[in-house]
Formats: sequence, structure tokens, C-alpha cells
Amino acid sequence: MADRRPSRNLAMELVRVTEAAALGAARFMGRGDKEGGDQAAVDGMRLVLNSINMKAVVVIGEGEKDEAPMLYNGEVLGAGGSPEMDIAVDPIDGTRPLAEGRLNSIATVAVAPRGTMYDPGPFVYMNKIAVGPACKGMIDIEKPIEDNLRSIAKGLGKRQEDITVIMLDRPRHDDLRAEVRRCGARLRLIDDGDVAGALMTALPDSGIDVLLGIGGTPEGVLAACALRAMGGEIQGKLYARNDEELALGREMGYDFDSVITMDGLVSSEDVFFAATGITDGELLDGVKYTSGGARTHSLVVRGATGTVRQVMATHSLEKLKSISALDY
Ligand code: FBP
Repeated sequence: MADRRPSRNLAMELVRVTEAAALGAARFMGRGDKEGGDQAAVDGMRLVLNSINMKAVVVIGEGEKDEAPMLYNGEVLGAGGSPEMDIAVDPIDGTRPLAEGRLNSIATVAVAPRGTMYDPGPFVYMNKIAVGPACKGMIDIEKPIEDNLRSIAKGLGKRQEDITVIMLDRPRHDDLRAEVRRCGARLRLIDDGDVAGALMTALPDSGIDVLLGIGGTPEGVLAACALRAMGGEIQGKLYARNDEELALGREMGYDFDSVITMDGLVSSEDVFFAATGITDGELLDGVKYTSGGARTHSLVVRGATGTVRQVMATHSLEKLKSISALDY
């Protein structure tokens, strides 16, 4: 029998990255300081990422939409050496809920072999459809909502009226929302956080069956990494906010008409993903402070094996402070 010892699971190292980001950012809950929270998450992420043995190029960094303190596209992270990876970061998916002291703010990161992640350039929005493993191969973003809901109901073996759609609560979704209602499905509206929304479709107990609607492109790539590893599927289509953006995209060779498949979003199965809750949410618990410490809740996913771990960690902030450059 071949000697096939388990290989390194980078996601186990990535969880320390999202934990550090969450621990830093959680201090800013409800303080009304988006930039401060983002900076703390970025600082935590960068410090731990740079301790990991890999050479990772940021493909999905802090986008232009936020004008946030950067982990900028093209930045090289990691302690160096091999493997050579692409990296997607969203230090805070849910900057607004964090600043306002609301639910569903998480820190996320994904890595995949170099050259395998979709690079959206400056284009910030993408139309998405995402489902869990039972409906993989059964969705088509080009088809009417009704057809997709019918396939999803078939895949899940339940009635169309029992399907729960999750969608960002935005005026741009008025028609989509009306269409879902017309089809008789249930609808969960979220204020922010469509990475978590997409992931929930792959967690059997979440009660969420499909994510629909237009959200961030970076969030689309991150969700693709996680769903690829978890056996689900996401498809996207770039969405231009106006004619200027459309014209710029066409000039730069981007196609706003074609479907970006799961493979187009991340073409390797050897993908790693981690997320940690900052504020409480449906997917993850937020950071809780205890006397002298803090607790975090994370999701850790590896594509090669399909292993999904939930990691509950307790942190001694005093000890961390004594050995780290971060002010925990
Ligand atoms: P940020 O916290 O990174 O701004 O993202 C929050 C978010 O809700 C994403 O989950 C989602 O993809 C995107 O914003 C939607 O953009 P918008 O708020 O402009 O509709």
C-alpha cells in the first residue's frame, strides 16, 4: 500500500489568522468606528499570516468599495518558501454590523494554489447563487428563479414552499424578492454578510437552502473556496453598477455576460478556508470576553479531504500580550 501520510492542513494554521483578526476587531463592537475595527482585523491577520510557511499573493484583498486599511492586492504574505499560494482575505465581512454592534460580523481567509483564484480586478459586485452539496450541479444562474427553486427542492427532497432563500436586504433586490415570493419559497433577509449566507447553505442544520442576489465579488470568491471544500456550489456573474463601470470592464477584458462557474472562481480542490465570528451570528458565535481571556468560535475547512471543523478556542489575553506584537 502506498505511504500516504496525512499532509499539512494549512487551514489549521489559517484559523489562528482569523482568530487574531476577530480578537482584535471584537474590541470595536458598537464603537461606531469602522476604520478602527478594520485596522485591528488587518493587523491581526497580517501578523499571523506572515508567520506561516508559504508564499502567498493577495488576489482578493480589501476592495475599493471600503477604501479600508489594506491587505492590498498583489501584497506578498507568509514566511516564504513553499507552497506558493493565492490568498483571499476579508478581515471583516460585516464592518457595518461590527461598528453598529449588530449581528453577523466574521473574519475570513482562504488560500489555494497560485493562479487558481478568480481575480475580479476593480469590480466590486457579483450576482450569485449558492447551494449546499445536495444541490451541486443542479443550479444555473442563467435560468429563471422558479427553475432553480424547483431543482433545489428536488435536490433536497422537499417542497418548493419549504425552501429557504437567504438574500441581502437591498433595494436592488426588490424584483428578485418579489420573484422568490411569487414562487412560494421562504425568504430570510440579512443586513450584511453574504459569505456566511453562502456557507450556511452547506451546513445541514442552518435551515438555509440557497443564497441569491448581488453582493461583493471578494465575498463571492471566499464563499467559492469554502463551498468548493464543503461540496456545495456557487455561480456568479459580474454586475456593473453603471455604464461607466461596464465600459471600463469591457476595456479591461472582463465579461459581464458570462457565468463564472465554481471552477472559474477557484479552480483547485486543494483549497483551505477559515472563518471566526466577531459578533454573534447564525453561522458562528462572536468573541466573548471572560476574566483574563476570550473565547472564539471558528469554522475550518479543507478541500482535499472535505473536513469541516468547528473550533472553539479559549485565549489567555495576558499570555498572548506577553509574546505578541498585538495588543490583545
Ligand atoms: P464589508 O463588511 O466587507 O463591507 O461587506 C459586508 C457585505 O454585506 C458583504 O457581505 C456583501 O457581499 C457586501 O457587503 C454587499 O455590499 P453592499 O453593502 O454594498 O450592498
